[in-house]
Amino acid sequence: MSMLVQSGVMLIGVFIAMFMSCWQMALTVVCSLPIMLIIIAVTFRYALPLFNKNQEVLGEVNAAVEENYSGQLVIKAFNAEDRKIEEFQKKNTLLGSILNKSQGAGSLIEPAMSFVSYITYAAVLIVAGLLFSRGTIADIGVITGFLVYVSLFQEPLAQIGQASSTIQMGTAACNRVFNFLELPELDDDSSKKAMLDHTKIRGEVEFRDVCFGYDPKKLTITNFSGKIKPGMKVAIIGPTGAGKTTLVNLLMRFYEITSGDILVDGVSIKDMSRRELREIFGMILQETWVINGTLRENIVYNLQNVDENRLGEILRETNLSHYVSTLPQGLDTEIQKESALSAGQKQLVTIARAMTENAPMLILDEATSNVDTRTEILIQKAMDSLTSGRTSFVIAHRLSTIKNADLIFVMKDGNIVETGNHDSLMQLGGLYSEIYNSQFG
Ligand SMILES: Nc1ncnc2c1ncn2[C@@H]1O[C@H](COP(=O)(O)OP(=O)(O)OP(=O)(O)O)[C@@H](O)[C@H]1O
Ligand SMILES: [Mg+2]
Repeated sequence: MSMLVQSGVMLIGVFIAMFMSCWQMALTVVCSLPIMLIIIAVTFRYALPLFNKNQEVLGEVNAAVEENYSGQLVIKAFNAEDRKIEEFQKKNTLLGSILNKSQGAGSLIEPAMSFVSYITYAAVLIVAGLLFSRGTIADIGVITGFLVYVSLFQEPLAQIGQASSTIQMGTAACNRVFNFLELPELDDDSSKKAMLDHTKIRGEVEFRDVCFGYDPKKLTITNFSGKIKPGMKVAIIGPTGAGKTTLVNLLMRFYEITSGDILVDGVSIKDMSRRELREIFGMILQETWVINGTLRENIVYNLQNVDENRLGEILRETNLSHYVSTLPQGLDTEIQKESALSAGQKQLVTIARAMTENAPMLILDEATSNVDTRTEILIQKAMDSLTSGRTSFVIAHRLSTIKNADLIFVMKDGNIVETGNHDSLMQLGGLYSEIYNSQFG
């Protein structure tokens, strides 16, 4: 921008000086102006789409590199190296050819501009010669002076030409960034007042005719209703894809419900800020999630002033203390995101994290699905003490873990098909008893 302003001012100044010096020669120079502008415009027209395409393909190549790198094991296991290499080479060759074209178009500007500029010099000298021979110009100094003007006049134009390929590349890159930035923002609710007193949360949850679909045209949850009394342990069970995790996503407002309402202690979750809502619930997600850092950082996460004794207790309850004692630096051992912990250990860490958080309500989505059955039984007591007295939602495929739940929702295709406790559902002889018998039959 600063260069454009400088060049613009220079052009205007020299333009005036030229006309004051000799208008005939000035006109000759001015004739070159549209030609140069046309050159810039034409390359812009031709090269900009190339630069756009260039950025797009570059994005694809980067995505392919990342995907192949993180998916190495899958690629190897399926012997897909050759295919993947071939795919990559195709994309990379395409990128190469587009890069050649766009850079080529960009670098054509300079020689084209120089060409026009030398022609202009020649034209000015011819006009000067004619004027001199006719005696219109008496002083040879006017001509030498004018040649300086010509070079001053053309210098900024050449600069604009040079900058234009940079500008084009920048424009193309900006387009992609702005496409992302212009996506609609989640409404900012950070200024909302707290609706509940966090020390006195009873833990009543009510679903009222909740409808929701990830795709607005296709509902995943239809007219889900249910009332959960404070302190209840609610189990949500059902076949894969029934919508159990979806229900939890709605409760935590990871997605907004399409219609209906969810009330916590009588307050609609829409009236709370997301932050407040998420403070109320402790959560163990189906997808375990650990960060690069020490084991302690993983368990304590963003909490402050966690009591060391309590931490030791939690480690014992979650059956992690033995593992921790085998580590060289105990809790302060660095663990890496992808390795160093087995899937079950990761799950135990997330359970320990939820225990440390000690939130008034709990959501456990397949919290023990990755640990072996013996460990599961061992930590069952810890899980029970974690859930006792607080409203908790437990999703589990192994029904042994939820047999003692106060209320069981059996879901199928986004609907609750049965509700009750273990005994009443077994008596009913429906989907629940079918699933139960399939596991213990
Ligand atoms: N992010 C998403 N975008 C679109 N559809 C989704 C998304 N997540 C889940 N679904 C769809 O919604 C339905 C319910 O999925 P959900 O994850 O709630 O199942 P689930 O009951 O938790 O199953 P599982 O026992 O396997 O965990 C599925 O048909 C799934 O394909
Ligand atoms: Mg799920």
